[in-house]
Amino acid sequence: MKVLDGKKVLLTGGSRGIGPIIAESLAKRGADIILTARSDTKLSEVVTRLNKSGFNVLGLPVDLRDSSQREQLVIDVMKNFGTIDILINNAGIETEGAYAELSWASIRENIEVNLIAPMELTRLILPGMINKKSGHIINISSIAAKSGGPYDAVYSGTKAGLAEWSRALRLELTGTGVHFSTIFPGYVREVGMFAQFGVKSPWIIGSCSPSQVAKAVINAIDKGKAEIIVNSRPLRYIFMINELSPGLGDWLMRISGAVDFQRHKVGK
Ligand SMILES: NC(=O)c1ccc[n+]([C@@H]2O[C@H](COP(=O)([O-])OP(=O)(O)OC[C@H]3O[C@@H](n4cnc5c(N)ncnc54)[C@H](OP(=O)(O)O)[C@@H]3O)[C@@H](O)[C@H]2O)c1
Repeated sequence: MKVLDGKKVLLTGGSRGIGPIIAESLAKRGADIILTARSDTKLSEVVTRLNKSGFNVLGLPVDLRDSSQREQLVIDVMKNFGTIDILINNAGIETEGAYAELSWASIRENIEVNLIAPMELTRLILPGMINKKSGHIINISSIAAKSGGPYDAVYSGTKAGLAEWSRALRLELTGTGVHFSTIFPGYVREVGMFAQFGVKSPWIIGSCSPSQVAKAVINAIDKGKAEIIVNSRPLRYIFMINELSPGLGDWLMRISGAVDFQRHKVGK
């Protein structure tokens, strides 16, 4: 059944990685999609491929670091679609390395793309959703939000911020018809920012496929799920230990090899 028939979706991060796979899953269920990213060429390739499959997909190149471009994006989407039923804040960047050695510019850029852009796009789109008493905002966070990754502190902070901001809005807007869901993927295989390293994640941490992330997005929309962790290992138990005893949680991360893995991944 095409449960998303005619729904208008704005999906950020549509040029590569997980975004195009989420887009295809939504399009197969009948959604009309506007994809954004900076790269006009890569975005056009994805849009052309999806259009050839008979899907209604449009690309709008935008640099999400720039507030005026974020505002213009929403104006342009409204011009093309007239409404936005679903916003998927998927674009993200990862600034890895020893925190003390990162430039302030790269830290700011990470916060701008991963946290400020979703907040501003939502702020621009939300009044319309509240007025029509329907809408869904999906935020693609990460398991790094549940257990901060060493050498990945800025990314972890932005993803945790995204998740708790999303939870706060979910509670604030209960009963308005506007829903918020957060997806927490583990290390994603095959495509995306982790796969590009060409390494295997530690056994205890596990991994997931991009199509599992796409499936979680569909599940969140269909069932109004608040939060979904997408991962091959039952990490929820480790996250529970973190909550009950952060010291024990840190020890588990160290002895499991997760800290060494992160250090090696960034060449430290
Ligand atoms: N891959 C993983 O293992 C993993 C795990 C957990 C969570 N996640 C999350 O999943 C989401 C997608 O990740 P991914 O692995 O697919 O990442 P990716 O392959 O690096 O793709 C990132 C996407 O974001 C866009 N983007 C980056 N900076 C932008 C900017 N300034 N303005 C507009 N668009 C921008 C990129 O397009 P342009 O470069 O063309 O702008 C691209 O389409 C992210 O939020 C990430 O944090 C990923």
